[in-house]
Amino acid sequence: MNEEIRDAARDLLSRLAADRSRREAIVSIASAEEAASFRGLAAPGAGRPVAAVIADAERIFARRVRMDHPRFYGFIPSPASPLSFIGEMLTSGYNAHAGSWMQSSGPAAIEQGLIAWLAERAGLPDGAGGLFVSGGSMANLTGLMLARDRMLPPEERHRGVAYVSTQTHSSVAKGLGVLGFLPGQIRKVAVDADRRLDVAALAAAVAADRDAGKLPFAVVASCGTTNTGSIDDLHAIADLAAHERLWLHVDGAYGASVALSGSRRALVDGLGRADSLSWDAHKWLFQTYGCGMVLVRDRMHLLESFATSAEYLQDAAAGDDTPNFWDYGVELTRPARAMKLWFTLQVMGERALGAAIDHGFMLAETLEAALRERPHWRIVSPAQLGIVTFRYEPPHHDAGALDRLNSAIARRMIDDNAAAPLTTRLDDAVVLRACTISPEATASDTRAMVAELDARARAIAGVR
Ligand SMILES: Cc1ncc(COP(=O)(O)O)c(C=O)c1O
Repeated sequence: MNEEIRDAARDLLSRLAADRSRREAIVSIASAEEAASFRGLAAPGAGRPVAAVIADAERIFARRVRMDHPRFYGFIPSPASPLSFIGEMLTSGYNAHAGSWMQSSGPAAIEQGLIAWLAERAGLPDGAGGLFVSGGSMANLTGLMLARDRMLPPEERHRGVAYVSTQTHSSVAKGLGVLGFLPGQIRKVAVDADRRLDVAALAAAVAADRDAGKLPFAVVASCGTTNTGSIDDLHAIADLAAHERLWLHVDGAYGASVALSGSRRALVDGLGRADSLSWDAHKWLFQTYGCGMVLVRDRMHLLESFATSAEYLQDAAAGDDTPNFWDYGVELTRPARAMKLWFTLQVMGERALGAAIDHGFMLAETLEAALRERPHWRIVSPAQLGIVTFRYEPPHHDAGALDRLNSAIARRMIDDNAAAPLTTRLDDAVVLRACTISPEATASDTRAMVAELDARARAIAGVR
């Protein structure tokens, strides 16, 4: 690395460290003119000094949502730890090819060990395995591919039916589509009052499909729905799956991290009954994108679905305990994604990580309690797994007016850079939703956010 690049990189690192300021805009979207000027910068011209290009890159990245800001409450935020960022620098700096043992035996041994540890914490048996993937969508696709391959003979795939709930993440249907299933082969089962998959309705749907000559083959349970943080009844679904010979895929992209919580891990009891499990580290394990895991009850199932051979790979043969992760999933070339999670966990230790997860629960409970103290706020779904949904409902507003009001409240909070809760739809109504997993946010931040929300809600609705 020449001196110019080294100096520019050193300066950039100190600015990146300072960039975590709370004063910056939480949501910043490029204007049409800026977007046009960025597009104009996309294609290369003559080479330029590195510092000038870094300056452009910083202007470009300024136009983003700060998903790691302690007052960003939308989607599933990504309050990435600075440790993960250092782990990512190591990964990118060494740029190991984590496809094969030969090319990356050190990081592969860590991936093996970390997957075994996570599987044990999830309650999966010996013989379980898995791999790191880019995130929940790829993890769901991988788990569902195993379901297809193990449960449906190729000539019967057109008769297969997979069961999800109305609250299952959209990536599951996308993954089933990639695997060749048609929309009519995905059955959306109703949820109960707590927005958990209704197991009786699932049993009825399976029976009806069998009567109609279909082949039910998989059920997807959610451990932490995106809308409300609900956890399906994992044991009841696992019992039904065993009885009906269905593959049980658990989407724990968000909620599986609770298995590492200090005080709440009992909530996710039953995770270990999954045949396959999605678990994202770039959500509640504080990693930079894209870092997810798919865990499976029997690692041989991954090999049976994904292993390939090619003459040009023959010098990188795997051994019994020296796997080639390219045989476990879709990707051949892949970064050593496990290393940043490993680095973070090594520095933090398990107990501090568990406390950071517990903190998210506490913030959601604080938020719910603060809303309950104020008039006209209805809690739509109580604090669950760091998520609360709520709606401002002053009198003399019809349903449509309340929808517009709640959307306007979220927009005003963002425009004022006070905080960024976003909205979702539940029971056909617009509701505000807050996901509170930032380890940097405090209970008093959360109460202050509720006061700001209430002030804006009253101002917009004209309530004194
Ligand atoms: C429950 C759940 N499953 C799957 C996903 C998709 O994960 P990713 O965005 O990492 O692909 C998400 C993303 O928010 C999610 O909340």
